[in-house]
Amino acid sequence: MALWNGKLVEIVMTAREPSAAAEHWAALLGGDPDGDAVLLGAGTRIRVVEGAQEALAEVRFQAGPELRAAVEGALTVTDPDGWRLRFDPVDEVEPLELSSPTLSHCTLGSPDPPGQRAFYESLTFLLSDQLGDFFCWLRPNPVHHSMAFARSDEANINHLAVELPDSTSFIAAIDRVVAQGGKLEFGPGRHMVGNNLFAYLRDRHGIRWELCAEMLRLDPDHPPGMYTPEDRKRSVNVFGPPPPESFIKEPGGPGPAPLEEPATEGA
Ligand SMILES: [Fe+2]
Repeated sequence: MALWNGKLVEIVMTAREPSAAAEHWAALLGGDPDGDAVLLGAGTRIRVVEGAQEALAEVRFQAGPELRAAVEGALTVTDPDGWRLRFDPVDEVEPLELSSPTLSHCTLGSPDPPGQRAFYESLTFLLSDQLGDFFCWLRPNPVHHSMAFARSDEANINHLAVELPDSTSFIAAIDRVVAQGGKLEFGPGRHMVGNNLFAYLRDRHGIRWELCAEMLRLDPDHPPGMYTPEDRKRSVNVFGPPPPESFIKEPGGPGPAPLEEPATEGA
């Protein structure tokens, strides 16, 4: 498989007031507001369209030839949980140069993580790690995960993530959130799976975001780590402090939002 088969480049969010939401998310995550979008590093972005509530409507990837072949050239595909994916064709996927806050991954609640795993594997994503049938992490390139699925009663957002270039900029990002009057829900800590530093926060709409850094990069032939659900207790934070109840019990946002009008190309 190509080392860079796909790249998460954009999430489309719905919001009641798109430009206000974009401004809020840019300030919180360290991106640049640009009308109804938030520009992040390495050509990644959050696009915001009008909708009934703040929610995730579409996940967009640059798709190399193997990924395009797996979806038989389709531009958009809906996964078994109802999440809409878009695959923009490129001859060669651009590797991700991490020099500023960059869109990292979507971790989504799923009633059937193994079913989601099988679907994404059919799209040529590779399994990086798995915690029984409770959690799975998948990648179309060396970044440990672009999509992950955690068991939940229904499809919803668990969290959406932005990666910082290093631990210094990670701490600075947390300081920026606090300076704006925000506070963390969980962290800073380090996950065992992916080895990344993490800090979770809720935005003013209740959406859970993760700031992360030092995420593992894996070669295509790296064997997946197969953990048991019992490993979860120690895996969630190798630094020690356990997550608060809200992190375990509350979703980080609603299920798939309808996309009323297809968002246009360009920022
Ligand atoms: Fe995450």
